[in-house]
Amino acid sequence: MRRLFIAGNWKMNLNRGQSLSLVQSLAESLRGVSEVDIAVCPPAVYLGELGKALHATNIGLGAQNVNSKAEGAYTGEISCSMLKDVGCRYVILGHSERRAIYGETDSMVNEKLHAVLAAGLTPIVCVGETLEQREAGQTQQVVRSQCLGSLAGLTEDQMLKTVLAYEPVWAIGTGKTASPAQAEEVHKDIRSLLEAQFSVGTAQKVIVLYGGSVKADNALELLSEPNIDGALVGGASLKQDSFEGIIKAATSVRK
Ligand code: 13P
Repeated sequence: MRRLFIAGNWKMNLNRGQSLSLVQSLAESLRGVSEVDIAVCPPAVYLGELGKALHATNIGLGAQNVNSKAEGAYTGEISCSMLKDVGCRYVILGHSERRAIYGETDSMVNEKLHAVLAAGLTPIVCVGETLEQREAGQTQQVVRSQCLGSLAGLTEDQMLKTVLAYEPVWAIGTGKTASPAQAEEVHKDIRSLLEAQFSVGTAQKVIVLYGGSVKADNALELLSEPNIDGALVGGASLKQDSFEGIIKAATSVRK
């Protein structure tokens, strides 16, 4: 039995006042929700303050990126222990924007993943194909290769502590969501890859999120698919009512 998990990836949006007011409202309105895991991943500069605001609430705090090194001369970078220090529990790794804009490779994601797990944080590792790759019939091959490269060297126990997110690049910020059947097909394939790499038991336990234009009005049908265990939400996580709507949909799903 997997618990549904809804995480908001704010990307580079909202100012300090808006961030604080959003988490305060969410903490208040989501107070009684216990059947779904919830997290927000704001810009790094606000993590400390929001970590305090979210302390002792049911909303976890996550970062959008991290450096794999422990400390040192890495100007502009942030380490896992710094994230832990300010109350982070989750770290998004290998988001398609980081892969496409900042040149992150599977092996860089893999290095970060090992550092995040060693620090006791929960990684959310993103994979997903571009429109060109989908149209060329390469979706399965691309997603499998990103998974194998990003997850290299994990023990079964570490795999169980890792969250995956399937985010088709063509569905991110475009308003084009993968249909529930399209998303389910990839999620199912990720699970069979995990089965082959680890075990049936582990494959059944790993949380695999879907991301790409998830909104309050399409969340229920996506989350009702057997292998979709939650959502990584971009745009719709920036407003209280839309993020709450997605969480409400998740609470109504019985698997
Ligand atoms: P949107 O929900 O805005 O499409 O973004 C999805 C995403 O990239 C989450 O990480």
